[in-house]
Amino acid sequence: MLTQPIKAFRCAFLDFVDDPFYVAEAESIRYIADGLLVVENGKIKELGHYQNLQDKYAEVPIIAYPGMLIMPGFIDTHIHFPQTEMIAAYGEQLLEWLNQYVFPTEAKFKDKAYAQKIAAIFLDELIKNGTTTALVFATVHPQSVDAFFEEASRRNLRMIAGKVMMDRNAPNNLSDTAETAYQESKQLIQKWHKKERLLYAVTPRFAITSTPEQLNLAGKLLAEFPDVYLHTHLSENVNEVEWVKQLFPESQGYLDVYDRTGLVGDRSVFAHGVQLTDAEFQRLSKANSAIAFCPTSNLFLGSGLFKLNKAKCVEHPVKLGLGTDVGAGTSFSLLDTATEAYKVAQLQNQKLSPFQALFLATLGGAKALSLEDKIGNFDVGKEADFVVLDLRATPLMALRNSAITPTSLAELAEQAFALIVLGGDRAIHATYIMGEACE
Ligand code: GUN
Ligand code: ZN
Repeated sequence: MLTQPIKAFRCAFLDFVDDPFYVAEAESIRYIADGLLVVENGKIKELGHYQNLQDKYAEVPIIAYPGMLIMPGFIDTHIHFPQTEMIAAYGEQLLEWLNQYVFPTEAKFKDKAYAQKIAAIFLDELIKNGTTTALVFATVHPQSVDAFFEEASRRNLRMIAGKVMMDRNAPNNLSDTAETAYQESKQLIQKWHKKERLLYAVTPRFAITSTPEQLNLAGKLLAEFPDVYLHTHLSENVNEVEWVKQLFPESQGYLDVYDRTGLVGDRSVFAHGVQLTDAEFQRLSKANSAIAFCPTSNLFLGSGLFKLNKAKCVEHPVKLGLGTDVGAGTSFSLLDTATEAYKVAQLQNQKLSPFQALFLATLGGAKALSLEDKIGNFDVGKEADFVVLDLRATPLMALRNSAITPTSLAELAEQAFALIVLGGDRAIHATYIMGEACE
């Protein structure tokens, strides 16, 4: 396919230049009702008002999206690609759900061709939902990681993934050993980390399925490769937390299990954190670690209500992104996920504003993944992954959102909230990767 080295998009644009949990919305939001986004070789060259830039780029081909809204691509900070096919599994909470549904499904990923097939379906689903970057669990099989990265590479996506490490309390056909997990992870890091747009995450499933030896070796990998990620689950479910205490009686609590093995750092992303104590939130803040808030999953598995106000408190802020956590999560859409995050806040008498929610789905997610120098907003030089949103994608949305392009932040907030609550995958008109439209 022939691509233009330089092109421009005319539309309304919304992105974030700061965190609206801490900085007034008027200062953290960048909204341009009639803007021009100029993309050169897949990266952002300029964003400004159309009127101011039209002469400068008079020779450049313009793709116009009248009546739409362009935002940075959505960022999913926690998801499992092998669980795509068992989304919506009935009736169980975490530990039983894993045994009954997840482990039998993940066993199929021994077969690389099968993993490849599901990876392709998974990535198509992400794109259809406007998600351009994700932090992804594979399975224990190294070939599941190969399959995933090969498909992501084919689509030129910025993706982070890793092989699950699991050497106890798991079926034999899904178990590695401390040593094989270390060796296989190391080989995968050498093969994939920083290849094109791909990055590697050391991925012990959770404390229950790893021996202390395995967690120590995961820590060794992080010490040997300081710019890879740590991705795991943390304090999701009450029974899980109890079991961790029994398995690691010498530890001060769940997070301390990871802390003692060198897994709590500024490139560590912990999914859930529903049962965290105040002291653990503070420790995560101090370590500059991130939490993936996974509201659809936390509700679906009956895990509980994430304490958003603790994570985003001014005194001990924790980096926070949204995670769909499919297959425990019930939607690939970060708009749907933001809606459930809003409801989780409501149930605790807290508010999540539409701009705060969209921040979490974009720049907040990028910060949680330490990728804010590359993605998350339209700053010059960043990678041009973005989504074209249709605020009137369905008859109901058209009724709810008037056809007038918002000119004030209050009008924009109204329309953005209806987009979040009603939009889902219907609102994703197009997804662009490095300035190229996905077919
Ligand atoms: N904890 C350990 N493994 C999993 C998983 O696959 N999904 C969720 N939601 N929690 C987990
Ligand atoms: Zn998960």
